[in-house]
Amino acid sequence: MLQHTPPMGWNTWNTFGLSINEQLILESAKTMIETGLCEAGYNYIVIDDGWQLPQRDENGRLVADPEKFPRGIRALADDLHAMGLKLGIYSCAGHLTCGGYPGSNSYEFEDAETFADWHIDFLKYDYCYKPQREPGDQLYLRMATALANCGRDILLSACSWGADDTALWIKSTGAHCWRSTVDINDSWESICRLAKEQKELQKYNGLGCFNDMDMLVVGMNGQGNVGLGGCSYIQYRTHFSLWAFLGSPLMIGCDIRSMTPETAAILKNRELIAINQDPAYRQPFSIGGSFNFECGDNAESFVWAKLLENGDFAIGCFNFSDSPRNMYFTLSDLSLARFCGRKLVMTDLWTGETCETVDARFMTKVDACDCRVYRAKIVKE
Ligand code: GAL
Repeated sequence: MLQHTPPMGWNTWNTFGLSINEQLILESAKTMIETGLCEAGYNYIVIDDGWQLPQRDENGRLVADPEKFPRGIRALADDLHAMGLKLGIYSCAGHLTCGGYPGSNSYEFEDAETFADWHIDFLKYDYCYKPQREPGDQLYLRMATALANCGRDILLSACSWGADDTALWIKSTGAHCWRSTVDINDSWESICRLAKEQKELQKYNGLGCFNDMDMLVVGMNGQGNVGLGGCSYIQYRTHFSLWAFLGSPLMIGCDIRSMTPETAAILKNRELIAINQDPAYRQPFSIGGSFNFECGDNAESFVWAKLLENGDFAIGCFNFSDSPRNMYFTLSDLSLARFCGRKLVMTDLWTGETCETVDARFMTKVDACDCRVYRAKIVKE
C-alpha cells in the first residue's frame, strides 16, 4: 500500500492561490526542514492549481509555465527529493481545472506518464468542468488506472468535494484519499461547518482511502487566498485537533516561512500527530455525553474515542458551540464493565496535565470553541 497513514505536508492553495512559483516552493521546502516540520512528519509539498500553461504542447503534453517554473517541474522534484521531501502536483478530472487551465480529461494516460517523467509523488485531482455524462467514479478510476500503470508510485488525492455522493463510490476507484467536504476558508464558521459535515461522513473513512477534510487553515491569521477573517489560536488548536483525531490528511495551508511560534506549536504537536498517524487507523466512535445545564442543547459539541494500536484510548471533547459545555463519559461508554477494576489515567495532549476517571466516570468543562484531547492509559485500580 502506498500510504498506510494519512499524508501530511504543505499545499500552496490556501495562501497563494494561483500566484505560485519555483522560488516559493523551494523556500517553503527549506522551511519545512529548518523548522522541524518535516521531522514532525510533514513530507509532501503540493503545487496546487496555476502551475500550467493555458495550452498543451504540440504532442498534447501539459507544460509548466516557464515564467513560474523556469527549470521545469522535474528539476524541482529532484531538489525536493534530495532534501528528503516529496512533490505533489494538481490536475482535474474535467476538461479544465478550476482555475481554467487544461484538465486531464481524455489525457489520463499521457498526463500520468508526464507526472511519472517529472518524478511526481502525489496528484491532487479536482472535479471542475466535469462532463455531465461522464460519472465521477469512472473519471477517478480512469486516472487511478493510468497512475497504477505509469511506472511510478503516485498517490491519488481525489478532490470532488463530496459531490455526487462521492462517499459511496470513491473506495472502488483507487484514490488514496478523498475530499469529503467543500472548500475550507480561514474562519471559525467554515471549521464548524466542516466538523458537522464530517460527523456524518466519518463512517466512510478507512485505511487505504482516507477522508480528507481539506487543508489546514492553522496560522493563516486572515491572510492569503482563503484568508477570510481568520481565527483565534484556540480555534486553530480545535481545528487541528479535530482533523488529527478524525484521521484526515494534515496539509498545512499557511505561509510557513513566516509562521508564528504559536502556529508552529500547534502544527508540531507530536502527540496529536501520533493520534492521526496511529498505525491501527481505527475509526472513532461517539461516547456521546456532552450537556449544558443552561440550554440542554448538545448538537454542536461531541465526545469521541478511539482505540489506539498500543491499547490506549484517544478521547476528544470538542465544543463547537458558543458557550462552555460540560463534557461527560463513563467507562461503560468505552465498553468497559462497570466493575472491571480499571481506571483511565489521561494525559491532556495540549497542556501535558494528567487527570483520572473517578468512580468510572469523567467530566470536564470545555470553553466555547475549545477542545480537550487526551491519551488515556488503562490502569489497575
Ligand atoms: C478547488 C479545490 C481547492 C483548490 C482549487 C484550485 O476545487 O477544492 O482545494 O485546489 O480548486 O483551483
